[in-house]
Amino acid sequence: MSRPRRPATPSAVVSRSGRFADGPAATVATFSQSVSFDWRLWRQDIRGSIAHATMLTKIGVLTGAELKAIRDGFAEISSEIESGTFRWLPELEDVHMNLESELTRRVPAGAKLHTGRSRNDQVALDMRLWLRDEVAALRRDLAEMQRSLVLLAERSAGVLIPGYTHLQRAQPVSFAHHCLAYVEMLARDDSRFADGQQRANVCPLGSGAIAGSTLPLDRELVAQLLDFTDPKTGRPRVTANSMDGVSDRDFVVEFCASAALLAVHLSRLAEDVILWATSEFNFIRIGDAYTTGSSLMPQKKNPDVAELTRGKTGRVVGNLMSLLTLLKGLPMTYNRDLQEDKERLFDTADTIRACVRLMGALLSHTTVRAEVCNAAAADPQLLATDLADYLVRRGMAFRQAHHLVGAVVAFAERKGCPLDQVTVAELRTVSDQFEEDVREIFDLKRAMARRTLTGSPGTREVARQLKAWRRRLGVGSSKS
Ligand code: ARG
Repeated sequence: MSRPRRPATPSAVVSRSGRFADGPAATVATFSQSVSFDWRLWRQDIRGSIAHATMLTKIGVLTGAELKAIRDGFAEISSEIESGTFRWLPELEDVHMNLESELTRRVPAGAKLHTGRSRNDQVALDMRLWLRDEVAALRRDLAEMQRSLVLLAERSAGVLIPGYTHLQRAQPVSFAHHCLAYVEMLARDDSRFADGQQRANVCPLGSGAIAGSTLPLDRELVAQLLDFTDPKTGRPRVTANSMDGVSDRDFVVEFCASAALLAVHLSRLAEDVILWATSEFNFIRIGDAYTTGSSLMPQKKNPDVAELTRGKTGRVVGNLMSLLTLLKGLPMTYNRDLQEDKERLFDTADTIRACVRLMGALLSHTTVRAEVCNAAAADPQLLATDLADYLVRRGMAFRQAHHLVGAVVAFAERKGCPLDQVTVAELRTVSDQFEEDVREIFDLKRAMARRTLTGSPGTREVARQLKAWRRRLGVGSSKS
């Protein structure tokens, strides 16, 4: 295919050609161009244009032959973009003008393509289409990351660790229970993305620049062609107000807000991974390929993937703030300020996808140091609450039991022995409710079996949750 040659001056399709004697100053063109980043919308722009042209043919604006020429022209342009030979011209401002201008240079009917359409509804359409594909891909990656967590939980079956509050040892939990906590968070993230899609999946084309069109456009047909349909009824979904249609960016904000919360979740996981990989914790070993070395200290093995994931949360949260600030105070309807939404959206989408993928891969290459974990979880102080529950089972008020066990802990500290080494006789000096069977309280295996509540880290409950997640995520099926 021959390399497209472009006109030295933008063709007559450039919107300002009739009204203005001169082109914009070079500095203005540079300042206002968006093609350097919105070229990414080219597939969506072409798809939308073909749907629009199909509709224009149905209402008699284009002939069948013209539609075919437009389709063929776009097919050529598409393969040139794909092979990297298409020349994007910044003086044509954005992806929309570049594509339309080049189409019109090749196909005269291209000059009819913009009938009843504005870049204002066109860009709103392109972004909705783009986000739809992006969210579908992100949700697949999220499910993959959840599978990595479930598999890590399974690899560590039976391994216990101290659960922490205030980063102080609190109560024993299974390593798997800790992993599944993140699986739950990611499931909520996934449902937020899915929910946002219901509102994004509405077609704005036909809103024109602000006030629709006097031409008898068939908005429903365009919506149908672009799969903007109700998942239940299959009916086309079109925006209900042309002014809202061109200026609504809620779907971008919602995506970036869901992504910001996902980034916060990933950052918390990253922090756990970083702590666990320290010599102080030493709970896990990250595969070499997912760590980096130090240029100076030969012994170092750094968890940079987790650190960068934690760090990149800053930009994802920042992008959300940028968008909200961008929209605040914008008068109706389209304002050029809105062009600033794209870099925030693209950066959020790229960053969050990369973090999800890399953290998932890191987890797949992580091994759990079972002995270290189990030794830490064997700290008998972790069962102090179980000791209070023992007294409660004997009819004591919890507040009193808490107070008495506190006294036992203080006694053990004074004696300089672990909590489980306080003798029954010594315990009985604190309360005569303690009997020989109190020893069982410090049997960790039994302690974990005793936790039977739904959502608890009990042995059977965690196994049940793991099984449910395996099924839900298709772990072990041919797909994973
Ligand atoms: N590049 C513009 C944007 O991203 C496209 C819409 C331009 N519309 C306009 N009336 N100048 O928002």
